[in-house]
Amino acid sequence: MRKTIPDFEKMKQAGEKISMLTAYDYPSAQFVEEAGVDMILVGDSLGMVVLGYDSTVPVTMEEMLHHTKAVRRGASQTFIVTDMPFMSYATIDLAIVNAGRLIKEGGADAVKLEGGMDIVPIVQTLTRAGIPVVGHIGLTPQTANQLGGYKVQGRDLDSAVQLVKDGQALEQAGAFMIVLEAIPRQVAAQISSGLRIPTIGIGAGPDCNGQVLVFHDILGLFKRFTPKFVKQYAELRLDSVQAIQQFHNEVKQSTFPSEEHTFGLSDEVIQKLYGD
Ligand code: KIV
Repeated sequence: MRKTIPDFEKMKQAGEKISMLTAYDYPSAQFVEEAGVDMILVGDSLGMVVLGYDSTVPVTMEEMLHHTKAVRRGASQTFIVTDMPFMSYATIDLAIVNAGRLIKEGGADAVKLEGGMDIVPIVQTLTRAGIPVVGHIGLTPQTANQLGGYKVQGRDLDSAVQLVKDGQALEQAGAFMIVLEAIPRQVAAQISSGLRIPTIGIGAGPDCNGQVLVFHDILGLFKRFTPKFVKQYAELRLDSVQAIQQFHNEVKQSTFPSEEHTFGLSDEVIQKLYGD
């Protein structure tokens, strides 16, 4: 059964942790749903782990829509949050049109936007229009250049206080959940305990109300870089390369296909086809 926004609020109240994992296509969505994960994020991280871009900045609305549709086909029973890509919510007018498309055409249940107090008017407009919004503060990859790179945020007093205020502003604006990325655990704990809505951490310590990671990171499918907060649970890249090498070698050695993977004809048809 697909969980709902009140379910996530109840989970926070009951102290039950929320699991969220990214998925980007039909098979990954099926795996995540079959594993029983509470929510799927169609993250714009797909730009890096699936499309090979250097950052999330080049990702387009059409790409997010394309992948969200595939994820929805693979996971009809799971709550899906889709990232709004860079510049797709630069104005309120753009935000409402683009968020609406991700919900109506893509099949997402909610959209995620990066930013704190600065995006409050957009969050208010979307939620008033009936579009559920997840906030994202701390390390915000779409604007990593302005933050001085992919660095832990909220390490000094001023920036920690600002993060707490950003969390409160997003909740007041109508966000139903906030992703906290790459911030000290104490700051994440302070934000989480002060809010009614759940927080989902990525590199934000154990006191958030849930945790999110990237599909390709936990399965060992993406090796360009691995942040400290990633836990890798499998080594599928290596297994995949080995399996593909084996296929390649068997083709070269003519050991594939064997009888088992080959179709034949009955003797009667062969005789009619070729005669004696
Ligand atoms: O794009 C993404 O995968 C994300 C997570 C890292 C939270 O935003």
